Amino acid sequence: MNRYAITGAAGYTGKYIARRLLQGNAEIVNLTGHPRRPNPFGERVRPAPYDFGNPVRMAGHLSGVDTLFNTYWVRFSHGRTTFERAVQNTLALFEAARIAGVRRVVHVSITNPSPDSPLPYFSGKARLEEALRSSGLSYAILRPAVLFGREDILINNIAYFLRRFPLFVIPGRGTYRLQPIYVDDFAALAVEQSHREEDVVMDAVGPETFTFEELVRLLARAVESRARLLHLPPGTAWGMARLLGLLVGDVVLTRQEIRGLMDNLLVTDSPPAGETALSDWALQHADTLGKKYASELARHYRP
Ligand SMILES: NC(=O)c1ccc[n+]([C@@H]2O[C@H](COP(=O)([O-])OP(=O)(O)OC[C@H]3O[C@@H](n4cnc5c(N)ncnc54)[C@H](OP(=O)(O)O)[C@@H]3O)[C@@H](O)[C@H]2O)c1
Repeated sequence: MNRYAITGAAGYTGKYIARRLLQGNAEIVNLTGHPRRPNPFGERVRPAPYDFGNPVRMAGHLSGVDTLFNTYWVRFSHGRTTFERAVQNTLALFEAARIAGVRRVVHVSITNPSPDSPLPYFSGKARLEEALRSSGLSYAILRPAVLFGREDILINNIAYFLRRFPLFVIPGRGTYRLQPIYVDDFAALAVEQSHREEDVVMDAVGPETFTFEELVRLLARAVESRARLLHLPPGTAWGMARLLGLLVGDVVLTRQEIRGLMDNLLVTDSPPAGETALSDWALQHADTLGKKYASELARHYRP
């Protein structure tokens, strides 16, 4: 029996990685902030709480683990959960992996991380990549752009608003691009990389590149929305997103996320690492896509 650890094994990306590992002879430690939530996998997945304040205790949860799959990160700073805290927490996790003698870390990063980025999402990810590179642990650093799949937030919620409102706001000209990768293609890559020895850093993008406007039009076609697209300056678009946030009780999109999109940080020159085309997937899942709002705050900030 091989032992693995996944941060958020019942979460979004983590669940797909867990499913793939469980096709083999595997048991999984699910490091999570919600150890009491129902476990969709049964006995072969055992929850353990994040012990970020105590790497030695966290190492105890990682005892006998071959590969740690790290998906842990935060989408935005909210209350006491800041990017800086998420960086420190992840450093504690790497330290725990080192203490426990974990063989390899498969770490989920982001396209175009940079220590000089004004966006803490991208600078924090760059700091963590650097920390992992110099940790002495064997690693695969995978850099997805945007993930899509049934449990997705961003793409699902674009479809949600397209279904419900006669207008859809596009920040700026909408010509900035992104390369979505299917979450299960990403999970396959993560599992494949766990079996290797050599250190790897690679982008993980899908086979299609869309401008943001093309993506919105694709989703509108899939869900048969007749919403008019309205181009507004990014600051105004952010104001609209905040209003929508009040309506749905969530943070819909942050100013920094708009900046990251408009700065083309979710696009690369790398060859595709996944085969599934969002243009096909969206049509195949048109009956469920955007039917329900997917809330970041409900997922991570409520019991
Ligand atoms: N989703 C995307 O489109 C996308 C795109 C590019 C890169 N990524 C990267 O892919 C990785 C996985 O993303 P995901 O969307 O699949 O994440 P997720 O499953 O929603 O969360 C992954 C883990 O992070 C924890 N977490 C997330 N937000 C948190 C918060 N605000 N406070 C405390 N803990 C939090 C979760 O805690 P619980 O176990 O308690 O739920 C879970 O253990 C991340 O590193 C992300 O940066 C994602």
